[in-house]
Amino acid sequence: MRYGSARILVRIAAAMLLAASADASRAASPRPVEDTLEQRMQACVACHGERGGGVAGAAFPRLAGQPAAYLAAQMKAFREGTRTYAPMNFLMARQSDAYFAEIAVWFASQRPDPRVVEARRGAAVDRAALAAGQALVQKGRPDDELPACVSCHGAGLGGRTPAIPALAGMPRDFLIEQVGSWKTGSHRSPEPDCMSRIARRMSGADIVAAATWLSLQQPDAGPEPKSDALPLACGRG
Ligand code: HEC
Ligand code: HEC
Repeated sequence: MRYGSARILVRIAAAMLLAASADASRAASPRPVEDTLEQRMQACVACHGERGGGVAGAAFPRLAGQPAAYLAAQMKAFREGTRTYAPMNFLMARQSDAYFAEIAVWFASQRPDPRVVEARRGAAVDRAALAAGQALVQKGRPDDELPACVSCHGAGLGGRTPAIPALAGMPRDFLIEQVGSWKTGSHRSPEPDCMSRIARRMSGADIVAAATWLSLQQPDAGPEPKSDALPLACGRG
C-alpha cells in the first residue's frame, strides 16, 4: 500500500462514521455522549492530523485551511470512484453531499499545524534542486508554456476559492504522487483538466524539485479569492 498499512485505521474510522449515521437516524432519542462534528472527525485524525492540521513524516495531506468547495469536491470524487485511494473510497462510499459540505466547511475553518513543516526542516536536501523547485513554483517556465504554480494556487500557496487547493507544507511524496498521476494519465480532473496539461509539461525531476520545495513552506497563507485571469482554464477552481 502506497501510504503504509492503513487497514486498521480505516476500520476504526469507518466504525466511527457508521456510528455517526446511525446516531443521525435516531435523532429523537436522547444520547449519552455529546455528538459533535469535531468528535466524528476524530475518525480522520490518525491520517490527517488533529483537526486536519497535517502529520509529519507521512504522505497524508492536511485538510485544515483548504478551500471548502475543494474538499467537498474531492470527497465526492472518492465516493464516485473518479479519484482512487482505497481507504478514502471506502470511507466516503455511503456519505451524502450535505454531509460532505458540512465536513468541508469545518476543516476549511481549521488551522494547519506549523509543527509539521518544522519537523521536516533540517533533513538534508539538494540545494540546487531546491532552488530549481522554488523557481518553477514561483515563475514557471515560459519556454515550455509551463505557468507558475502561484498564478493559480495563490502567491502564498494557500489555494484559491472556490476549489484550487493549497500546496504549502503538503507532504513531498503526496505532491509527487498527485502530479505524477496526472502526468501518466492515471488521474484526471474535470475538463478542461489544467493539472493534466501542466503535469505533462513537467519532467520527473521538475516534479520532485517543486514538491520538495513546497513541502518545506509553512502554510501561513489562506486561500485567495477566485480569479478570472488564470493562465489556463480549469474545470474546477
Ligand atoms: C487511513 C488513512 C486515512 C483516513 C482514516 C482518512 N483519510 Fe482522507 N486521505 C488519505 C490519503 C492517503 C489521501 C490522499 C489520497 C490520494 O492519493 O489521492 C486522503 C485524501 C483526502 C482528501 C482530499 C485532500 C486533498 O488535498 O486532495 C479529503 C478531503 C479527505 N481525505 C478527507 C478525509 C476525511 C473527512 C476523513 C475522516 C472521515 C478522512 N479523510 C480519513 C488518508 C486517510
Ligand atoms: C491554471 C491553474 C493552475 C496552475 C498554473 C497550477 N495548478 Fe495545480 N491545481 C489547479 C486546480 C484547478 C487543481 C484542482 C484539481 C481538481 O479539482 O481535481 C489543482 C490541484 C493541484 C494539486 C492537488 C493538491 C491536493 O491537495 O489534492 C497539486 C499537487 C497541484 N495542483 C500542483 C501544482 C503545481 C506543482 C503547479 C506548478 C507547477 C500547479 N499545480 C499549477 C490549478 C492549477
